Amino acid sequence: MTKIYAIANQKGGVGKTTTVVNLAAFMAGSGRKVLVVDMDSQANATSALGFNKYEVAKSTYDVLLQDGKFSETVLVHEDTGVEILPAHPELAGAEVELVNTIGREYRLRDYLAHNASHFDYILIDCPPSLSLLTVNALVAAKDGIIIPVQCEYLALEGLTQLTQTIDLVKKYLNADLEVRGLVMTMYDGRTNLSRQVVEEVRKHFPGRVFRTIVPRNIRLSEAPSFGQTISVYAPNSPGGVAYKVLTAELLKGDMAQQGVAA
Ligand SMILES: Nc1ncnc2c1ncn2[C@@H]1O[C@H](COP(=O)(O)OP(=O)(O)O)[C@@H](O)[C@H]1O
Ligand SMILES: [Mg+2]
Repeated sequence: MTKIYAIANQKGGVGKTTTVVNLAAFMAGSGRKVLVVDMDSQANATSALGFNKYEVAKSTYDVLLQDGKFSETVLVHEDTGVEILPAHPELAGAEVELVNTIGREYRLRDYLAHNASHFDYILIDCPPSLSLLTVNALVAAKDGIIIPVQCEYLALEGLTQLTQTIDLVKKYLNADLEVRGLVMTMYDGRTNLSRQVVEEVRKHFPGRVFRTIVPRNIRLSEAPSFGQTISVYAPNSPGGVAYKVLTAELLKGDMAQQGVAA
């Protein structure tokens, strides 16, 4: 059974894309067949896997407008085997074009059900907004949302709004939607602030925060400019180790849920 997660937080720069591409890479490294879906018109996940967003033939824009044949849209990241439905800047217009169409919130869910059931994991990278693109991702995310939270002042503030959106999606569009977990990112062990933020988020979301914390690590920000994931670029860096352990934590939890010995 394919597991589908949306990586969402309407705040920009919290580590969504970094989490998507690196979880995908380590999942692939442990033998899973993985698809990344880039739902952000900034196309950072697409670039991070080495593709030029202006040159992709078909993109998630075509997927939403029902003109994106899977075999003509999907690209493969050679170093890791991760596959991606890339984004193109024109995705920004999809919102407006879909506004009067029936079932507009279900486009991605239905497309993945028809075309991508041969994957073990599908990770959907969301834009920094609670737009129709994010709603499509939350409706498609049958196994839950992963929420990256940056260890910074006011980290909890945006989470209230996100929680409200999740509740609305649950009520009207996807009754099964759950939070799979929150990932604390860009942790700086030298500051009290980072420690306090982790504590506060754990208190607010008891049992929901992944044990693995992703440190602030320059290697993680360098890797995308080479079109590489951290698993290839610097697997032994603190960031590389963190994403490897986070992936193991996630996979282990999923297997336990399915009743398979981890
Ligand atoms: N743990 C980290 N340590 C250092 N830099 C990071 C880390 N996580 C993300 N970054 C950098 O921070 C910026 C924002 O991260 P990104 O994953 O693109 O966030 P989002 O997708 O939520 O906007 C990017 O330049 C990225 O390379
Ligand atoms: Mg992003």
